[in-house]
Amino acid sequence: MNTTDQWWKKSVVYQIYPRSFHDSNGDGIGDLPGIIEKLDYLKLLGVDIIWLSPIYDSPNDDNGYDIRNYQEIMNEFGTMADFDQLLEEIHKRDMKLMMDLVVNHTSDEHEWFVQSKQSKDNPYRDYYIWREGKDGKAPNNWGSFFSGPAWEYDEATNEYYLHIFSKKQPDLNWENPKVRQEIYQMMKFWLEKGVDGFRMDVINMISKAPGLPDGEQHSGQLFGDGAPNFMNGPRIHEFLQEMNKEVLSQYPTITVGEMPGTTPEDAILYTNPERHEVNMIFTFEHMDLDSAPGGKWNLKPLYLLDLKENLAKWQTALHNKGWNSLYWNNHDQPRIVSRFGNDEEYRVESATMLAACLHFMQGTPYIYQGEEIGMTNVKFSALDEYRDIETINMYKERKSQGYSHEEIMASIYAKGRDNARTPMQWDDEEHAGFTTGTPWIKVNPRYHEVNVKSALEDKNSIFYFYQKLIALRKELDIIVEGDFQLLLQDHPQLFAYKRKWQEESLIVICNFGDKDVDMDNELLTRISDYNAILSNYPSSSIEKLRPFEAVVLTR
Ligand code: NOJ
Repeated sequence: MNTTDQWWKKSVVYQIYPRSFHDSNGDGIGDLPGIIEKLDYLKLLGVDIIWLSPIYDSPNDDNGYDIRNYQEIMNEFGTMADFDQLLEEIHKRDMKLMMDLVVNHTSDEHEWFVQSKQSKDNPYRDYYIWREGKDGKAPNNWGSFFSGPAWEYDEATNEYYLHIFSKKQPDLNWENPKVRQEIYQMMKFWLEKGVDGFRMDVINMISKAPGLPDGEQHSGQLFGDGAPNFMNGPRIHEFLQEMNKEVLSQYPTITVGEMPGTTPEDAILYTNPERHEVNMIFTFEHMDLDSAPGGKWNLKPLYLLDLKENLAKWQTALHNKGWNSLYWNNHDQPRIVSRFGNDEEYRVESATMLAACLHFMQGTPYIYQGEEIGMTNVKFSALDEYRDIETINMYKERKSQGYSHEEIMASIYAKGRDNARTPMQWDDEEHAGFTTGTPWIKVNPRYHEVNVKSALEDKNSIFYFYQKLIALRKELDIIVEGDFQLLLQDHPQLFAYKRKWQEESLIVICNFGDKDVDMDNELLTRISDYNAILSNYPSSSIEKLRPFEAVVLTR
């Protein structure tokens, strides 16, 4: 594969969570015509590819990640004609479209599962993972990501089915070649329509360890840790290579596999072009650095040294061996400016610093809707203002374990997925210009101050900073090609790195703190012949970096 085939290396992706992006018909739910109305805005930002979270027919137990019909559009989002128009309008603007491919599981309302549940000898029985109970209990001790066991008992056939996510998301049985063929045909249906690629939902979970053995049970945990038995399983590379051969290799696609529990060594296996699997993966390691043992709800402050070490490890390991994706945000993560920045006094400075820190690394950057205007986390006071199944189930589980309301809410404020899912803030009118009706989830009350309209009116806004980052990636090949070296490794407040390619060098220096910091003298001397090409303050002097200041220099 030559570099022109690898167009996705130079691209920037923008993720849309359709439910919360823009509502065109006043039902309080974002939709496809609503997205079409905002394409010029995305073109102005300069992104190349749009990734849509699932838009398929779904009962919405998990907002579309539970698919009832892969070849129909969700009613609330519009029709197939709307989709065709959206694709055409995206292509007309010289952008591309990536679909979400959710094939580790379907909805329990998918026709395959409806059939599968009917009897043990139904032709679809083996499309899913059914097992007999063990000693009157579930077949193994795995827990679901959305609380409770990963198994649901079905009285009619006296067996259990596996669901790593909600019980309305039964896992497909990839061991069955018929399942794989159905999925490949479905992928071709979308590729034939002209879509440009897929983001593959938890795709490293499709191969499960034979025998589905119990997971280790850590103290204080309600269930065993099944992850080693269903992440990066024994046939995962075989399945991905088969999918590549039968489908992906026949179209010019961009593919990114969402893969929790992967190391850089795994990532090389998944993304080395010679292995013909996927172009890049989403790692979670940097998103887990502010969690204490026991999972994401157990909070711990981020230590900058951990973040530097982790990102540097991925940068160096994958250079010339695979390809990184770069992200701070998506629909499952809290807002980065609230998480690793300061969303009050230094909202603009910290949002732009974080953007610079990420966008000069090697890999394909992903921007999540609202990140480009510095949208922040929310704090709703009552549980019934939250919509996310993971959040609601966790609240109930922790309550039953004796946690206080305040403790649980602190976790939700820091990590809950609804932080990312409040409606996009377009202006300072009612409901932030997202809808004329009642939004399906409350709007972040800060929309008066944080919105697209005011960002577009202010030439120093976060929006224009992102626009510059995207433009620079197109101009400077070093951003795409250069190697990576961490500088000031032990500095507790500065994240600095160097990129090098042919005769060129580029240096990024970011102050992660809310205090001024003196530049390291030795580095200062080393960069005396560099020129600053970007800063997130109106004027910059690199001798002293102000709160959340970022400076980028080249030579
Ligand atoms: C990962 C998706 O990003 C998340 O939103 C979803 O709940 C799970 N996979 C299950 O599909």
